[in-house]
Amino acid sequence: MIDTTEIPPIAPAGFRVERRTPPDQLDRLSREILRLNEELNAVILAHNYQVPEIQDLADYVGDSLGLSRQAADTDSDVIVFCGVHFMAETAKILSPQKTVLLPDRDAGCSLEESCPPDKLRELQETNPNFYTIAYVNCSAEVKALSDVICTSGNAKKIVEAAPPDRDLLFVPDENLGSWVTEQTGRPMTYWQGNCYVHVEWTHDSISRIRREYPIAPLVAHPECTKAVRILADEVCSTEKMVHYCQAVESDAIIIATEVGMLHRLQKECPDKQFIPAPTEKCACNECHLMKMNTLEKLHDCMAKRTPEVTLSPEIIERARLPIERMLEISAR
Ligand code: 13P
Ligand code: SF4
Repeated sequence: MIDTTEIPPIAPAGFRVERRTPPDQLDRLSREILRLNEELNAVILAHNYQVPEIQDLADYVGDSLGLSRQAADTDSDVIVFCGVHFMAETAKILSPQKTVLLPDRDAGCSLEESCPPDKLRELQETNPNFYTIAYVNCSAEVKALSDVICTSGNAKKIVEAAPPDRDLLFVPDENLGSWVTEQTGRPMTYWQGNCYVHVEWTHDSISRIRREYPIAPLVAHPECTKAVRILADEVCSTEKMVHYCQAVESDAIIIATEVGMLHRLQKECPDKQFIPAPTEKCACNECHLMKMNTLEKLHDCMAKRTPEVTLSPEIIERARLPIERMLEISAR
């Protein structure tokens, strides 16, 4: 007899990402946040993985690349960044004269953690011909040590634009790095870091959901392992997932990325069904770091103007160049 207790559940039909804010506080907090937004002449930028109630009142919701562009272009005095720490730092580097607020200063990232700047410097010193390409999911110090930055939305373009005579060092996500090599044919040395969320999907857990929904296409983020990526119909950044899902003819689509993405997709494509890909443990998968930002913390950070993201002028100056190089290559 098969022991079914060991098989993790799959999400029920009509799955929706739940709000976390108690209903009796939702309206009051949302109204107050919008009032503070006016008062501070602020802009609220939110990543696609944020809780639904934050996405619903943000001025802009998008992926790392879109958020960087917004941060570089805004006329507002204050950027309220609903995402993780490295994203808010990137906003500060691009708009150093602005106040950048992050609702929870402890909202980090496992990729950022995996790559301490002193260890990166040690590796760089082993090969003077290294050209360092840093995935944006890293600290400002690591950006300052890099030649160019990339996001999942432009990594292929950035690697294709890298000088042909240099040895490419890709940090800190080995999975994104190997996916880009598959796309470009360009060999690279990979930093051994990964996203603790995206490596939770396995070949088995994805095969199981594909058997359950045999005609639904599967979209996966490039931070997933190769064992998962080879099962996907499309591998792309969170923003490109929106475009793919809008264009694809299927009514049901399986999504292998952080579960907050399904709220965005549901809003953009209200007539389609989105099925979260299960892991070995759970019917869907969540980044607890992204979820540290709540509506209440968003309200409090705007009311008290803290936590504020600050960086030294030297780091800002050194980290700005590789980010601007990325934005320039990306716009070509
Ligand atoms: P995107 O830039 O594709 O939104 O990815 C950011 C991220 O942190 C993925 O885990
Ligand atoms: Fe970092 Fe992964 Fe969370 Fe994205 S999902 S912020 S890569 S830990």
